[in-house]
Amino acid sequence: MRVAVTGANGLLGGEAVAQLAGSHQVLALGRGPCRLPPGPFAWADADLGDGRSAERALLDFGAQAVLHAGAHTDVDGCERDPDAAWRVNVGGTEQVARACRALPARLVAVSTDYVFDGRAGPYGEEDLPCPRGVYARTKLCGEEAALVLAPGAAVARVSVVYSGRPGAKPTFATQIVEKLSRGEPVKAFADQWVSPTLAASGAATCLELLLESDYAGVLHASGATVLDRVDFAERVARRFGLRGQILGVPTASVKLPAPRPLRGGLRVERARRLLRHGPIDADEAIDRFHAEWQRRSA
Ligand SMILES: NC(=O)c1ccc[n+]([C@@H]2O[C@H](COP(=O)([O-])OP(=O)(O)OC[C@H]3O[C@@H](n4cnc5c(N)ncnc54)[C@H](OP(=O)(O)O)[C@@H]3O)[C@@H](O)[C@H]2O)c1
Repeated sequence: MRVAVTGANGLLGGEAVAQLAGSHQVLALGRGPCRLPPGPFAWADADLGDGRSAERALLDFGAQAVLHAGAHTDVDGCERDPDAAWRVNVGGTEQVARACRALPARLVAVSTDYVFDGRAGPYGEEDLPCPRGVYARTKLCGEEAALVLAPGAAVARVSVVYSGRPGAKPTFATQIVEKLSRGEPVKAFADQWVSPTLAASGAATCLELLLESDYAGVLHASGATVLDRVDFAERVARRFGLRGQILGVPTASVKLPAPRPLRGGLRVERARRLLRHGPIDADEAIDRFHAEWQRRSA
């Protein structure tokens, strides 16, 4: 099958390309040059924010299925530059969805638990979004663009993505390991409840949804355990055999440009029911993260 992945230099997109390559004809799309290890896939340099290049690349490739994982994910950067956030998260998703409708190709667009305000999480698919902040608002508009413009599309929401893959960008999880290994304390927001999503597991869930299911609409595809960031940091530290200080701090103690949902997190029963590679529990994900980390440092 001809499968395309946007955001291929990213945490989730990079994993998806690695999982697909070899079994499918793969087009990986990203901004600028490819930063993935070489493999059996083609690369397209396509800026999601320029109005046409991703759409053209998908049409030229003749994609049959598209995982749209590219996004402006810098939450505070989006708050500072709403035009850029809109261009990429809404305009970029529009381009991808239009291409999918024209081809036609099945579309799974990745989104976020930030579409909820974090007053009463964890949230199920039927709960009404109430985004706060530019990133959250543009991601919700991107969801609508996918669902409106690409018939039969699915939106897969994830939360706090992390990866131990070589070359993967730093995340909260990798900072926990690196700081504690250096003997430095880790600060963690004690009042933010999230559903951490190991990129490899989230990518497997999204790909099964894309290639083996015709589910249309929103599906929660994050990690299966809802926990606060201190609990997450303590579990990571325990698994890595690291001692040291994990300091819980309130979100309000740090001045951040964009608001953060507090009581967030996603309920994933539906994805677990529907899919073989559905959401996994936090400790299993952290075990896999640990194995990725060992391979990376070997
Ligand atoms: N990361 C999280 O904690 C998190 C949480 C909830 C939901 N999500 C969602 O999950 C999906 C995957 O994100 P991720 O976790 O893999 O984050 P990521 O590592 O930041 O990946 C996003 C990718 O999109 C690319 N991108 C950004 N602007 C672009 C543009 N103008 N044109 C083309 N590509 C562009 C980035 O390119 P560069 O690599 O060149 O910057 C990056 O590779 C996104 O929809 C995101 O909103 C992420």
